[in-house]
Amino acid sequence: MSINKKKIAGEKAAEFIKDGMTVGLGTGSTAKYLVEKVGEMVKNGLKIQAVATSKATEDQAKELGISLVDVNDVECIDIAIDGVDEIDRDFNATKGGGGALFREKIVASLANKVIWIMDDSKLVESIGEFPLPVEILPYGYKVTFKRLEALGYNPVMRLKNDGLFVTDNGNYIADLHIGAPADVDDIKQKLDNTVGVLETGQFLKMCDCIVVGTCDGARIYDAVSIIAGC
Ligand code: A5P
Repeated sequence: MSINKKKIAGEKAAEFIKDGMTVGLGTGSTAKYLVEKVGEMVKNGLKIQAVATSKATEDQAKELGISLVDVNDVECIDIAIDGVDEIDRDFNATKGGGGALFREKIVASLANKVIWIMDDSKLVESIGEFPLPVEILPYGYKVTFKRLEALGYNPVMRLKNDGLFVTDNGNYIADLHIGAPADVDDIKQKLDNTVGVLETGQFLKMCDCIVVGTCDGARIYDAVSIIAGC
């Protein structure tokens, strides 16, 4: 039987969750295992409230009996745990492969502690190979698309069922094929200045630690231990 590294990471990260916490629950195939585990812990008596980063996660959490709170009704989030598409040793990450990047960023920005969970294939020398998703406003999206093209970012509009992919927020996603190594600060500055781009999947140095599922179990790295290579 093959080892499920995403499950290993998701379940290990759940150990950081304690009674009384407000927890940000991520989106995607790795976060799914986390949410499953949290559901089990809640059944066994854990008392928490959670903020979901997508409708999909909200549905899963509801089904598992996890109490949910609206993001507008929390002052801060104690811990946010979410998946990642690519991450380097400086903790510069790309997220949003599942299209939930905007809510994921709001939740992470409110959290006292941020943990990214992943299998070991997500750890890379330099990010850029995974297409960078950006959420764009439907109004004038063709203009925005041309601006992204002019920047040399090779945008591709994300599709679903023969139409454009629509986010939980009612917007579109353009995936930017930039390539590695990406100059993340330069890209950030240019995207911040592109009218029509609402949010990006760049999550630069936003996490406190990462939990990586490997063949030998879960490894936890913070900014110091990952640089030291321990
Ligand atoms: C969702 O929009 C994403 O940010 C995911 O967290 C990310 O794409 C990782 O997904 P997987 O855990 O499915 O690889």
